[in-house]
Amino acid sequence: MFEPNIYIKRRKHLAREIGDGLIVLIGNKPVPMNYPSNTLRFRQDSNFLYYCGLDYENLVLTIDCASEKSTLYGDDLTVDEIVWEGQRTSIKTMAELSGIDRFETTSKLQGDIIRSNDIHTLPVYREDQKYFLQFLLNNSDISSSKPLVACVIKQRSIKSDDEISEINSALKITSEMHSIAMRSTRDGLLEQEIVGLMEGYALQHGSRMAYPVIFTINGEILHSNIYDNVMKSGDLTLNDSGAESPLHYASDITRTFPVSGKFTPIQKDIYDLVYEMQQTALEFCKPKTSYKDAHLAAAKKAVMGLTKLGLMSGDPEEAVSKGAHALFYPHGLGHMLGLDVHDMEGLGEDLVGYDDKNQRSDQFGLAYLRFSKDLEPGFVLTVEPGIYFISHLIDQWKADNKLSEHINYAEVEKFKGFGGIRIEDNIAISDKGYSVLGPHIPKTTEEIEDIMQS
Ligand code: GLY
Ligand code: MN
Ligand code: MN
Repeated sequence: MFEPNIYIKRRKHLAREIGDGLIVLIGNKPVPMNYPSNTLRFRQDSNFLYYCGLDYENLVLTIDCASEKSTLYGDDLTVDEIVWEGQRTSIKTMAELSGIDRFETTSKLQGDIIRSNDIHTLPVYREDQKYFLQFLLNNSDISSSKPLVACVIKQRSIKSDDEISEINSALKITSEMHSIAMRSTRDGLLEQEIVGLMEGYALQHGSRMAYPVIFTINGEILHSNIYDNVMKSGDLTLNDSGAESPLHYASDITRTFPVSGKFTPIQKDIYDLVYEMQQTALEFCKPKTSYKDAHLAAAKKAVMGLTKLGLMSGDPEEAVSKGAHALFYPHGLGHMLGLDVHDMEGLGEDLVGYDDKNQRSDQFGLAYLRFSKDLEPGFVLTVEPGIYFISHLIDQWKADNKLSEHINYAEVEKFKGFGGIRIEDNIAISDKGYSVLGPHIPKTTEEIEDIMQS
């Protein structure tokens, strides 16, 4: 945990911003895998972690906005529970560790909530949370409080130095995971063998994954979680994996490398293009610049590079405005990163990534841009352009002769089976611009070939 003062300040700030009523933050409950006492590994709710840091099951935190006083609700374990689970920190000590003013048993919670006629809650993203909230509110309306959601997003969007150092500590593990993957990958191994090495390293160091690892020779499948392919010389492998810090801050890194340890000339051309897309986008990463502009600049770079390679044609600006690049680059440039890998998206992706000035497009590709707002010092984001050759998408666009003034389908056909390339780093925005977080992870084709052949 951070020191209590950090949580006290966060709660007081939130109480002042909301002004009135009772904020109710529900910690997560254990989730059974198949029967109640066989549970999935516990992950605390990120909003709960942000406002009190307590990484234990079955807790609720309330903040009374008028008095700015907080109360922790929870129960010490019974002896029967201790027999199976061992002792855990008492509720009294938990409250002290987080600087919480009062603590009560769970049995007091519903009465205290019902006495208040101005309750503020956050959106729920799990069925068990929904039922619990319904029970607490006596089956009355459980819709979340818009002002509370807006204040939490505003507060959590700006990362403190302490939070950035947590992300850096997650990145230390992640950087090792990626080095292990590059050093260990070779012809004939199954993807799962490398995934096991990476996850094993994180577990050995007290960490865990911030999201399910994407490790695949089918890099064109954007969020593939299947690891049963045999890797062959000539294939590219896409590794999108990131560990959590001790306080559950995420990291999110992608590298793409050749199974053989040496890029073929065309793999190198496409890789260098994605690298340039990322460099171009990074130039836009400074305060007051919209992240959408960074995304579109990367898209334009993609069109220019693909035109040189004979896959696209016409005016790049026009091609991007019509969305032609999305055949090859169908996702957005990146997203916020913090306690969640897609930070705060449980509170609403549009509310996190868009505002009155920056509205979501409905054009294929651009519509998947998760974050579009003007950048501010303290934002932490991923920058993750990619180029993919997705057979189904190519077939569909070709059948419709879609944007054929910009796409050379005869050439594109030849790239089916190429896979996909993504390069992803994590950055913090400051007054001066941006800094790439964490240790350097081999990224140029030369660096990757060096580490793979060393
Ligand atoms: N790791 C998932 C993503 O990059 O969004
Ligand atoms: Mn990623
Ligand atoms: Mn990402």
